[in-house]
Amino acid sequence: METRILEGRPVADKIYSEIAKTVAQMDKKPELVVFLIGDDPASRSYVKSKTRAAEKIGIKEKTVFLPENTSENDLERAIRDCVEEENPDGILVQFPLPQHINPEKIISVIPPEKDVDGLHPQNLGALMRGTTGHYCCTPSGIMALADYYGIDFRGKNTVLIGRSLIVGKPLANLLLAKGTDATLTVCHSLTKGLEQYTKKADIVISAVGKANYLKKDMVKEGCVIIDVGVNRIESSSSKSGYQICGDADYKDFLGHAGSITPVPGGVGLLTVAMLMKNTVNSALYFRE
Ligand SMILES: NC(=O)c1ccc[n+]([C@@H]2O[C@H](COP(=O)([O-])OP(=O)(O)OC[C@H]3O[C@@H](n4cnc5c(N)ncnc54)[C@H](OP(=O)(O)O)[C@@H]3O)[C@@H](O)[C@H]2O)c1
Repeated sequence: METRILEGRPVADKIYSEIAKTVAQMDKKPELVVFLIGDDPASRSYVKSKTRAAEKIGIKEKTVFLPENTSENDLERAIRDCVEEENPDGILVQFPLPQHINPEKIISVIPPEKDVDGLHPQNLGALMRGTTGHYCCTPSGIMALADYYGIDFRGKNTVLIGRSLIVGKPLANLLLAKGTDATLTVCHSLTKGLEQYTKKADIVISAVGKANYLKKDMVKEGCVIIDVGVNRIESSSSKSGYQICGDADYKDFLGHAGSITPVPGGVGLLTVAMLMKNTVNSALYFRE
């Protein structure tokens, strides 16, 4: 069986070209402020990709670098000052935060209309209800990718592995929404006998964060694999000493899966594209 590769690039490019046209017509360009706390190399690289994407489509982006030992109070104050003094259209705090900072507190300081990451309780509520708000970027990016490639969830057994607040739970809500109509099973670390669920699935979405753990013998032939995982594994053949891979053993699936998203080059590209889209929407619909 030939496996179709669900590349993220054409989907992201389509989104960028649509929003770049909108931005070109705006007198005041959308503005995004990103807070990066500490020196985590993966976070730095994610923030860089956001900066590059913003530049590409004409969004004004500024990254605020704060040291690892920034206190929760100081970060809260920095966000409040940013809202008062700069009033950008979008504010994003790059996760994960240092252990001593409570992410819930920080998210609630960002006004919901500027929370372009879609993590504020009001935005999560809007996603659940299907009403207006910023939807979290990775789940909405997955839906955009599925839509582009014509993946129809209706009447299909869909198994979602992972129940985090940024991927699994919001994605479960989007999959269950009227119009998408997936018949959904959500699995997690305490699920017993994961394979008994994945083997019955027409579509498997993995958001676990374990390199190559999903193997072809865990799913039936022709299954669609959407791989959200981003994992670093040691590699002597790459300059950096590591390689990025997904949760699914990609090579193992070629010739067995009906379709599969690559890592890198799949879902990750859509996460950034949806962040840009939310920022432009914020400037269009939520500016005072
Ligand atoms: N491509 C992107 O743009 C993007 C965006 C966000 C995240 N990611 C990647 O997606 C992955 C997941 O991210 P996350 O933030 O959702 O991670 P997370 O908060 O660590 O959640 C992982 C989920 O996987 C479940 N899990 C762990 N081990 C399992 C196992 N052996 N069997 C079944 N389920 C298991 C956990 O279950 P419990 O709830 O029981 O602990 C949890 O629900 C990571 O690799 C992350 O880097 C990618």
